[in-house]
Amino acid sequence: MKVLQICNFIVLLLIAPFTESLSLTTTGNASICADTALIQQGALDYYSGDGEFQAPYYWWEGGLAFGLMIENTFLCQNTSLDSLLQNALIQQSGDNWDFMPASQTMVEGNDDQGVWGLTLMTAAERNFSRAANGTAGRKNIPDWVTMAQAVYNTMYARWDTSTCGGGLRWQIYTWNNGYNYKNTIANGCLFNLAARLGRYFNNDTYLEQAEKVFDWLIDVKFVQLNDGSSKVYDGATINNNCTDMTAIEWSYNYGIILGGAAYMYDATNASSTWLNRVNQLWKGADTAFFNDDGIMYEQQCQAAKSCNNDQRSFKSLFSMMLEYTYLLVPPLKDEIYNKLTTSAEAAAGSCDGGYDGHTCGMNWFNSTNDGYYGLGEQLCALGCIQSLLASSRPDLYKETTNEYMAKGDASAGTQTSSSSNEEALLENQMTVTNGDKVGAAFVTAIVLSILIAGSVAMLF
Ligand SMILES: *[C@@H]1O[C@H](CO)[C@@H](O)[C@H](O)[C@H]1NC(C)=O
Ligand SMILES: *[C@@H]1O[C@H](CO)[C@@H](O)[C@H](O)[C@H]1NC(C)=O
Ligand SMILES: *[C@@H]1O[C@H](CO)[C@@H](O)[C@H](O)[C@H]1NC(C)=O
Ligand SMILES: *[C@@H]1O[C@H](CO)[C@@H](O)[C@H](O)[C@H]1NC(C)=O
Ligand SMILES: *[C@@H]1O[C@H](CO)[C@@H](O)[C@H](O)[C@H]1NC(C)=O
Ligand SMILES: *[C@@H]1O[C@H](CO)[C@@H](O)[C@H](O)[C@H]1NC(C)=O
Ligand SMILES: *[C@@H]1O[C@H](CO)[C@@H](O)[C@H](O)[C@H]1NC(C)=O
Ligand SMILES: *[C@@H]1O[C@H](CO)[C@@H](O)[C@H](O)[C@H]1NC(C)=O
Repeated sequence: MKVLQICNFIVLLLIAPFTESLSLTTTGNASICADTALIQQGALDYYSGDGEFQAPYYWWEGGLAFGLMIENTFLCQNTSLDSLLQNALIQQSGDNWDFMPASQTMVEGNDDQGVWGLTLMTAAERNFSRAANGTAGRKNIPDWVTMAQAVYNTMYARWDTSTCGGGLRWQIYTWNNGYNYKNTIANGCLFNLAARLGRYFNNDTYLEQAEKVFDWLIDVKFVQLNDGSSKVYDGATINNNCTDMTAIEWSYNYGIILGGAAYMYDATNASSTWLNRVNQLWKGADTAFFNDDGIMYEQQCQAAKSCNNDQRSFKSLFSMMLEYTYLLVPPLKDEIYNKLTTSAEAAAGSCDGGYDGHTCGMNWFNSTNDGYYGLGEQLCALGCIQSLLASSRPDLYKETTNEYMAKGDASAGTQTSSSSNEEALLENQMTVTNGDKVGAAFVTAIVLSILIAGSVAMLF
């Protein structure tokens, strides 16, 4: 560390006069914050300005990006991006504050909605400034945790015991590819949200629901715990009752389950059951996603250079969950923090590409940009580097932290508004039609006509 600092210093002396920025550093809170501001600027190069990022980035990745940036506002005590972030969230919140905006009606999955939900929990736990009424033209804007509850309640209502003994399907809508797939990310988001709401409100109902989701993940073997090499797999189709496992491993799946377990550990006042699970999950994650030098990587696709745009962002959610885990589970603090430190240095080394001289890469092993760049690369470096700051900032807040914390609304998202009736109707229609094995085009036609009829009806 010392040697590294001196080297950096000499290099800086040599090069500073000639270039605007060199490779980023991970020493000192102020310089980390200056660096993460640059990295965020790089991410925002892909921003369209309406709560969404440019194609080819999907809607969910906006949710991911804004969550990391909200975390940054807290860690760096920098409010410069507050109004951009408030606007982005409110613009995508949907009519019922449940993050099912009309623009995504036909394509949104449980995992997409869930990731936005995680971002809302971060806003609540980091006491991110509320959006003023009038933001993005909306009135009666609730607090962030109320919106997280709306996301959670709408997701939990989709718990489906008709196959595999329970679980959420990947997709919300029958007409989308993946409706017959149950997976770890959708259910992991549900588990993570339940654990966080349970901790935030000190409410046993959420904690019991978190237990239920976790037990199910164990039951179907998407999550396999043991002391040596715990596994977190992707998911399985319902065709064979979730037994035909897709046994591939993504860092964000490990992160979301490990993070949820860390919240459970904290919410259950350091129960030995959850400590044991957290330990087992961390060992599995450590084995799967760090190389011999202790540097984080996406093992499923990074070496083969086959990661798609989604997969290239996964290390960011993984990093954020490792950060929360070290905060919530003191016995693991040093071990996780050391791994994050090594990885953050490596990540910063990769941020020396592009015209701006600080564009981050995908592979962090070589201390230099590997030729890859994009929103995912920026977010992974951001998540990993800023994770180092959390240990010197206040803990994740709860409703009881002080009297001014957001109070939430347990019934958010459960009201039967006209649009959710419409949704229920749609769902029924779809189930009946699907049972009859009618072609997908016909199904879509029915859906569209109901949607159109619905909106026409609403005009009167
Ligand atoms: C941030 O500052 C605190 C307190 O000044 C210090 O203990 C900590 O090591 C710093 N963190 C980093 C990553 O430099
Ligand atoms: C705060 O954030 C803004 C916008 O990202 C950035 O320009 C500025 O440098 C940051 N300030 C500090 C002190 O890091
Ligand atoms: C959260 O923000 C509110 C409004 O700014 C403030 O009154 C409250 O004290 C903050 N809570 C904490 C724990 O800082
Ligand atoms: C927005 O309006 C609602 C009532 O319509 C109120 O409860 C809420 O406190 C207002 N939000 C802010 C941030 O002032
Ligand atoms: C389907 O899977 C669930 C979860 O593993 C199990 O509890 C249930 O018994 C299975 N049902 C059948 C018919 O195999
Ligand atoms: C943990 O401790 C808090 C405060 O002492 C208490 O309210 C809560 O019921 C406890 N939770 C569990 C699961 O033991
Ligand atoms: C890293 O460096 C090694 C040895 O110089 C080289 O073989 C490898 O291709 C490099 N990897 C990347 C991702 O640039
Ligand atoms: C706990 O949360 C549930 C909803 O998930 C709600 O019905 C209940 O009122 C809450 N309990 C308390 C004490 O706030």
